[in-house]
Amino acid sequence: MISAAACGKIILFGEHAVVYGRPAIAVPVTQVQATALVQPRAHGLTIHATDIARTVKVEPHNLIDPLAAIVNLTLAYLNCPRPQLEITVHSTIPIASGLGSGAAISTAIVRALAQFAGRPDIAPEVVSQLVYEVEKLYHGTPSGIDNTVIAYQQPVYFLRGEPIQTFNVAHPFTVVVGNTGIASSTKKAVSDVRRGWEIDPARYEAWFDWIGAIVQQARSAIEAGTLDRLGPLLDQNHVLLRELDVSSLELERLILAAKQAGASGAKLVGGGRGGNMIALVNDQQREAVIAALKEAGAVNVLVTEIQ
Ligand code: MEV
Repeated sequence: MISAAACGKIILFGEHAVVYGRPAIAVPVTQVQATALVQPRAHGLTIHATDIARTVKVEPHNLIDPLAAIVNLTLAYLNCPRPQLEITVHSTIPIASGLGSGAAISTAIVRALAQFAGRPDIAPEVVSQLVYEVEKLYHGTPSGIDNTVIAYQQPVYFLRGEPIQTFNVAHPFTVVVGNTGIASSTKKAVSDVRRGWEIDPARYEAWFDWIGAIVQQARSAIEAGTLDRLGPLLDQNHVLLRELDVSSLELERLILAAKQAGASGAKLVGGGRGGNMIALVNDQQREAVIAALKEAGAVNVLVTEIQ
């Protein structure tokens, strides 16, 4: 039996604007992960997603269903004769919540099949490209940031269509991640932002420029270790995401609770409208912020250090 895993991700700065060519900063979250298990079978090729109780018979050439598509694309890339297998996927990354569950599931499948085919050293760049093809099925017009940060499993400064850039974290810092428990479609949020941009391009381009400038300042602050600058930048990024109409009452409730409990900055992460938010904390603020998020209705809270 062969198994492989992939982590989740959070976008620290720049979601949505990244779809329009502005930079964004994303980091892996290793506390949550997707796993894929590959077992030889006597007949057929099936994939079983235990969390959503879904079994897909992988027909050759199916490039429409995301689970079948990632299997077919990977086998074609590996030049692997069609095997008789059962692939079982399981994930602790909440679905449709801004933590990259779709990209992580695809990544785990690619890695497991590569191992099965005797190619465990498949390059992250190849994994990322295969997963990107399937991200298009999930999201419509993805920037590519989710597949990149998850396939490389390292902090990235991302610009659509450009080679991956990493950056130095001068001083580690901690964010608390609070889940509203509301599943929300990234595809819908991204397409609603696109509709707004089509109606009033000048206004949206100005917001995207502003977000891009925040991302650049955040990168400098992270590289210089001037972490006191990060909190206000998170807050400013969130205000702009609110302007893009991708926040929600539940996200606002958690963000307010985190700020009132002492977090130096907070924002939604990913597509928005639900899913997760993050709050920047130091060691003294951490427990109070976790407690405040739970009190305000977070269904799950995790803590991650960026280093
Ligand atoms: C989704 O994790 C991030 C978005 O910016 C969409 C994308 O970049 O493809 C909302």
